Amino acid sequence: MKLKLPKDFFMGAAMSGPQTEGAYKKDGKLENIWDTWSDSAISDFYNKVGSYVGNNFYEKYEEDIKLLKSIHLDSFRTSMQWSRLMDQNQQLNPAGAGFYHKVAACAKKHGIELFMNLYHFDMPAYLFARGGWENREVVEAYAVYARTAFREFGKEIKYWFTFNEPIVEPDQRYRSGVWYPFIKDARRGMQVQYHISLAHSLAVREFYKAKEEGFLLPDAQIGLINAFAPPYTRETPTPEDLEALRMTDGIHNRWWLDLCTSGTLPQDVLETLASCGVPVEIRPGDAEILKCGKTDWLGFNYYQPTRVQAPQEKVDENGHPRFADPYIWPERKMNVYRGWEIYPKGIYDFGMKMKREYPDLKFFISENGMGVEHEHRFRNEAGEIQDDYRIEFVQEHLEWVMKSIEEGARCVGYHYWGVIDNWSWNNAFKNRYGFIEVDLMNNYERRLKKSAHWVKALIEEREKED
Ligand code: BG6
Repeated sequence: MKLKLPKDFFMGAAMSGPQTEGAYKKDGKLENIWDTWSDSAISDFYNKVGSYVGNNFYEKYEEDIKLLKSIHLDSFRTSMQWSRLMDQNQQLNPAGAGFYHKVAACAKKHGIELFMNLYHFDMPAYLFARGGWENREVVEAYAVYARTAFREFGKEIKYWFTFNEPIVEPDQRYRSGVWYPFIKDARRGMQVQYHISLAHSLAVREFYKAKEEGFLLPDAQIGLINAFAPPYTRETPTPEDLEALRMTDGIHNRWWLDLCTSGTLPQDVLETLASCGVPVEIRPGDAEILKCGKTDWLGFNYYQPTRVQAPQEKVDENGHPRFADPYIWPERKMNVYRGWEIYPKGIYDFGMKMKREYPDLKFFISENGMGVEHEHRFRNEAGEIQDDYRIEFVQEHLEWVMKSIEEGARCVGYHYWGVIDNWSWNNAFKNRYGFIEVDLMNNYERRLKKSAHWVKALIEEREKED
């Protein structure tokens, strides 16, 4: 199939502050939770590469923005680091703000749209020490941070997001405990998820207040980014399989979709949680706050489908209710390096779900990508990485995006994750995602891979029609 990108469709790059910037103690930047983890247990990180360096975007932002533009991308998303923008007294750190002003000015100069996210799993350490998302004061502090960012950058940035994948920290840090501080407590995890929902809603409230008061561009928009993939189960499900589907979808997707579309949380999910000994503590007045959580649009991160079936045991090894077991689809195709299933049609299924259930809300594919280990194996004689597998991956996903648009999905863009190789949390630089290579042995030098030429040619085709 010949791939044709629509007009008025963002084609860009996704990245985040903590995974690219580095400069972890520069210009007044405070420690964040990744720095704490890196300092306390560096062996937890692949090849002992901690959070300190990113891919050196702090130094190389201009070169990187030019590179994105050189392959004809029209937009990119990154995130501000709370620990860089604000000091411990919840005041703006002018040097940190200076960096983001430079990035915004550079994006403007090179004609590339900057999308700015406020939080990408990167709690400042001093706030984590005060209880992090378990403490409502931290929720309030996040609202102050959001207000400060909107007012400081309101005339420079049009597209804003409150959170990237707000489901990940409750899951990884508090429920499954695979990320620092390794807590395995379903109740605390749900409370964190709830508090993040309040934080999102307070930030959206601040956004509209700032807009009303003239601090923002008149057409500025606010959204939330999540991995919203609809879960699948077996082809001939039992009622128990369907129940597993309901709760998986409820906690991971509907929770955020309802918040962004109607300013509420799914009552059936809250009730099931409470009946299983995981009640969420809701205070008077919270419903009013959540009502503010409605957004202008959504970002949909998609890497792999979720497949579930009825759980064998109703309780897991930590004594938590178990709502689902993984279901291994016999026909699955894997990205063996990351251990994730590759299922491009999932992107279409989400588009159709949005069309059916949330027809008024537009969205874009805010992340999609393929991480591969030891990519140097694929270098040709001229030294260029021949990442045909990545081209195939993106091509297939884009084909399903186009099909969903043809059939009425309001999908307005596609951002590839990690256009420039970056630091992948505790996998560090193990799996490379980029269209552009970062040479860690050679001062973070950037080099185009084959996929960079491919994506450039794809976008040029569209430009020829203008
Ligand atoms: C997304 C995150 O879930 O997946 C990114 O928003 C992350 O931060 C990306 O890097 C790829 O996952 P990983 O763990 O391979 O880096």
